[in-house]
Amino acid sequence: MFKDNLLKNKSILVTGGGTGLGKEMATHFASLGAKIYICGRRENVLKDTADEITSEYGSEVVYRPLDIRASADVDNYIEEIFQDQPLDGLVNNAAGNFISPTKDLSPKGFDAIANIVFHGTFYVTHSVGKRWIELNHPGSIISILATWVWTGSPYVVPSAMSKTGLHAMTQSLAAEWGKYKIRVNAIAPGPFPTKGAWDRLNPKSDGDNSMAEGTIPLGRVGKMSELQNLASFLMSDGCNYLTGQTIAIDGAQYLTGGGTFSGLSKLTDENWDEIRNMIRASNNKDKKDRKA
Ligand code: HXC
Repeated sequence: MFKDNLLKNKSILVTGGGTGLGKEMATHFASLGAKIYICGRRENVLKDTADEITSEYGSEVVYRPLDIRASADVDNYIEEIFQDQPLDGLVNNAAGNFISPTKDLSPKGFDAIANIVFHGTFYVTHSVGKRWIELNHPGSIISILATWVWTGSPYVVPSAMSKTGLHAMTQSLAAEWGKYKIRVNAIAPGPFPTKGAWDRLNPKSDGDNSMAEGTIPLGRVGKMSELQNLASFLMSDGCNYLTGQTIAIDGAQYLTGGGTFSGLSKLTDENWDEIRNMIRASNNKDKKDRKA
């Protein structure tokens, strides 16, 4: 889909880049020629991912353990990277989430999510952005959000609140930092099954996606290559006028869930024939009554 070396000479940090969506995006950026930085909480996982990407694409992958909840550690880490070379791109992918009835959450449970998603993502964005501004260096930021930034979502309230805050950050910083040639966008993926997310958000599925698929107009969960393509497009210079947007990639799942009549997608042609006849019969009866 893209020309070779689309991202050559770009250096990109992917937080939470050792696993899941972060790993997939980092791998794709590397395949298009970028130099990659990944951070996360588990050094062995980061090392395995870095080795895997380097052996497949020969690209340089620098990894370091980092918990983005610790603001001073974040700033030291970003300083270290910029001493090496300024970043060109940042992907805010690190997140935490689990499903739970909200009444059963403790304050610490709420904080466990909000400190990673809401606070941690701001720390990284701020630390990178202020250096870009100081150096007069253009940059592109992508945050991985969720479609519940538009709809809210029961049972994942700390995540919904935090990611909605990052949606506001995306719009706000696009306006504030546009004059520094810093683009700020976000991706709201629908269901793209990864082990980390599915273990916490769909723990009973056992690899079966049919429940999710029934709610998606395109009839299937996302393919990782589709998410990778969107992330690489947003990171590339080909879309330098695109900023401040949160782009859903979900097979229209969230639009369907929100519509009053969305449940009707289950009806067959026979059901519709029956319904049409019932509506016509009712209209005809009204007409007769009006004539009488
Ligand atoms: C209720 C829970 C809980 C659960 C943890 N807690 N799990 N409460 N139900 N299932 C509570 C604990 O009881 C504790 O509160 C508090 O949260 C902190 O728990 P810790 O385990 O000490 O937290 P910590 O080690 O900081 O771990 C953070 C975490 C963990 C978020 C809980 O799951 C994690 O590290 N996850 C990172 C990876 C991840 O979540 N990936 C999925 C991202 S998917 P008390 O008061 O009892 O001490 C995503 C969006 C997907 O973000 C969108 C798909 C459409």
